[in-house]
Amino acid sequence: MASLRVLVAYSSKNQSTAEIASWIGAGLREQGLRADVAATEDVTDLSHYDAVVLGSAVYVGRWRRSATSFARRHHHRLLRVPVWLFSSGPLDPSATEGELPPTPGVARLAKRLGAEEHRTFGGRLTDGAGGFLAGQMLREKMGGDFRNQQEVRAWSGDIASRLVSEREPI
Ligand SMILES: Cc1cc2nc3c(=O)[nH]c(=O)nc-3n(C[C@H](O)[C@H](O)[C@H](O)COP(=O)(O)O)c2cc1C
Repeated sequence: MASLRVLVAYSSKNQSTAEIASWIGAGLREQGLRADVAATEDVTDLSHYDAVVLGSAVYVGRWRRSATSFARRHHHRLLRVPVWLFSSGPLDPSATEGELPPTPGVARLAKRLGAEEHRTFGGRLTDGAGGFLAGQMLREKMGGDFRNQQEVRAWSGDIASRLVSEREPI
């Protein structure tokens, strides 16, 4: 039986969400699945994928536009495969202390797509981040790296188990 093929699509400004996506991809591969990791703006065709994991950094209470336009562009295909969503943002330990709900826009998207699950992971803001507001936040000591690779890997393991068990004949 050919292994399941999963797309991990991400939208990231300062690459920390891109790295989370790469951890998810590695976690899925570790479980024997085929996983491609790509920026949302680079994906044109979903027809080869059996499942999609879609994630974005959160900026000012919203997903990045390239992630929401990905969801719009591929709406029909996304309705036909299992979809998992993740957000990356909080610049404090809150995401590892308990499950944080998605922003209202992402909650609506999850409902529209019938997503399996949404997870919020901690974010990262470090020197070199682009934008005036980012600079101001760094000056106000709001920066740091609050991502937890182990937690992300564990989640990708859960996704792999779900996909594999759903494929197994009853
Ligand atoms: C200007 C600005 C606004 C942000 N707004 C939010 C927000 O509303 N909610 C949140 O959880 N994180 C927010 N963050 C934190 C980012 O989501 C976090 O730094 C994330 O890891 C960035 O991902 P990226 O490196 O992939 O771009 C903000 C960061 C900046 C610089």
